[in-house]
Amino acid sequence: MLHNIFLAAVVLLLSSLFTSSVRAVQPSAPAPVAAPLRDLEWGQLNFLHTTDTHGWLAGHLQEPSYAADWGDYVSFAVRMREKAHASNSDLLVIDTGDRVEGNGLYDSSEPKGVYLSEILRHQHIDLLSSGNHELYNRTTSQAEFFTTIPNFRGNYLASNIDILHPAINEFVPLAPRFKKFTTQVQGIRIIAFGFLFNFKKNDNNTIVRSVEQTIKEDWFQEAIRDKDVDLFLVIGHVPVRSIEYDALYRAIRAIRWDTPIQFFGGHHHIRDYVRYDSKAYGLASGRFMETIGFMSIDGLSTSKCHAKSALVAPKFRRKYIDNNLFSFYHHTGLGEDTFPTENGRNVSLLIQQSRNALKLDMIHGCAPRDLWMSRVEYPHENSIYTWLEDEVLPVSLKDDSRPGQPALVIVNTGAIRFDVFEGPFTQDTTYIVSPFTSGFRYVKDVPYNKAKLIVEVLNKQPQIFTELPEHVDLPTWSLAPPEHLAHPGDAVAGFDKSLRLSWSAAGFLAGQALLSVNGYVRSNLIPGYTTKDDAGTDGDDTIHSPIPFYRVPNCIQSLISTNGSDQPEMVDLVYIDFIEPYVALAAKFASLDVDFEQDSDIYMPSTSLTSLILDWVKANWACEDGFFESGADM
Ligand SMILES: *[C@@H]1O[C@H](CO)[C@@H](O)[C@H](O)[C@H]1NC(C)=O
Ligand SMILES: *[C@@H]1O[C@H](CO)[C@@H](O)[C@H](O)[C@H]1NC(C)=O
Ligand SMILES: *[C@@H]1O[C@H](CO)[C@@H](O)[C@H](O)[C@H]1NC(C)=O
Ligand SMILES: *[C@@H]1O[C@H](CO)[C@@H](O)[C@H](O)[C@H]1NC(C)=O
Repeated sequence: MLHNIFLAAVVLLLSSLFTSSVRAVQPSAPAPVAAPLRDLEWGQLNFLHTTDTHGWLAGHLQEPSYAADWGDYVSFAVRMREKAHASNSDLLVIDTGDRVEGNGLYDSSEPKGVYLSEILRHQHIDLLSSGNHELYNRTTSQAEFFTTIPNFRGNYLASNIDILHPAINEFVPLAPRFKKFTTQVQGIRIIAFGFLFNFKKNDNNTIVRSVEQTIKEDWFQEAIRDKDVDLFLVIGHVPVRSIEYDALYRAIRAIRWDTPIQFFGGHHHIRDYVRYDSKAYGLASGRFMETIGFMSIDGLSTSKCHAKSALVAPKFRRKYIDNNLFSFYHHTGLGEDTFPTENGRNVSLLIQQSRNALKLDMIHGCAPRDLWMSRVEYPHENSIYTWLEDEVLPVSLKDDSRPGQPALVIVNTGAIRFDVFEGPFTQDTTYIVSPFTSGFRYVKDVPYNKAKLIVEVLNKQPQIFTELPEHVDLPTWSLAPPEHLAHPGDAVAGFDKSLRLSWSAAGFLAGQALLSVNGYVRSNLIPGYTTKDDAGTDGDDTIHSPIPFYRVPNCIQSLISTNGSDQPEMVDLVYIDFIEPYVALAAKFASLDVDFEQDSDIYMPSTSLTSLILDWVKANWACEDGFFESGADM
């Protein structure tokens, strides 16, 4: 027996020599760094959860804390399931959408996503749902319908989404509305739903019914009246603190005052955990493959064993696992040789081959310094927005049909999705920083004082968008990056020019007083998530030192003045096309009499913000001599 295990290990070791490296992560990924960890607390039913992965299936190639790839996650899920079964419990794997857009692995292929969907399907996902990003473009939702949903047949749920079937030209459910199933080991009877928040910017080939409307439908009302249910499981691309989940919680509780409910959500790109009542909780598991959410529930009734006393609440526990091999080895109790599965290794190799085919490691330039979205104040030398405003936009923005015309350009901060790290700026970085295909539009000859006012309205009086009932479709928070909505007290309250520190920066300062954590000197901790949620401050598996978080405005602006004047009389009002409805409404408040449908036009045809940034990087960020030989010492 021992002999066999030894042999297997040798075979594994030998076979790994023929793949690119012993570890399964991508060859250019940094090695994980040891850090103090908190252990998982297992239950009768356990979950792994991802959300808002946005194409980051290769992991983070410049950040050791999140450097594991989808192949490693495939191995992790198998090992965790083995561990659960060994102790007579169940494990379910969940994904709650926005799998697409935001990384070269998705965006840079033609058609988009062909490599990604092939990689994704190798994970055994028990339940998944659609995000808003799957529905912006009809080609994306059709790829969900014809590829991803069949790949995960029976596990993909769409409680409130219909799609226009191109063959029969009729709207049909994107996927089944709900599912009833019984877990393999414990026999826990589950009714599961899969929702999307009340999203309205989808292409008209899909219909997203509001949650409030959906919960009145017969199928839903019948499902929650089923008496043979041990757990309601609501997964969705919905923030765990939202009117949508609140409505769902109330609807279920109105009929079932006592049945445990577990929610999984996302969309805000944060780690969060909410207690709705003693038997109802919700978990949100971050973004971009940084986080594998872990949840366990103990004390559920099952088909085999009737409820303990209805008065004893089951125990719910959560952890946010940093997506790296150090954490994966620790939580499975395995190591380099014993952890990877053959399938997991194959998936890592497939990712490597896909990245090569897409030339994602091609270097376009070298960033001389880090540029942050929210780790420094705006404006700041290291703010990505200051860089755009002062360096990139002024020299890049010019339309051949408007020679010599000064322009005021408005870019929403949400058009930028990730930080730029000092060092190589690759093909992949291009899509990571700005994955959107949005171009620019403009209105010519607008009085400069009114154009300036538009930005002020967008940044300082965003409440106008929410106060008027006819504008509820235009939440201004969708102008800023999603992380910004979620921070306590910040929502829709308007942008405060004084740029106060958020809770995590405050925590950072407070944290300095503590000299050690679990015996580790605090200054030795790696900066990372320090989550505070409804269960306290022990949710992160890795004990980190905090990272500062500063708010940014909804929009930034740049004046492109061709003759050096900082007070031109008239400007071309240029903006990212995605935000036209907001600009149009703000223009009304600035008493600018413009009909945007008639008076606006494309600015710089066939240029997107993404291509504009790339061209600037190529022209301005040369790598030092010898970079390509030595591997950079910048
Ligand atoms: C939708 O996707 C297709 C194919 O990737 C692309 O050509 C098109 O420009 C996209 N349309 C929009 C509105 O983004
Ligand atoms: C969707 O919008 C296009 C024009 O934007 C229109 O031609 C088409 O009929 C619409 N489709 C549906 C199903 O409403
Ligand atoms: C992994 O890839 C190898 C080579 O392509 C193949 O023979 C093997 O069946 C794959 N294993 C799994 C588990 O998919
Ligand atoms: C620059 O152009 C603006 C009109 O756009 C004009 O008002 C201003 O006088 C010019 N300034 C100079 C220094 O030429």
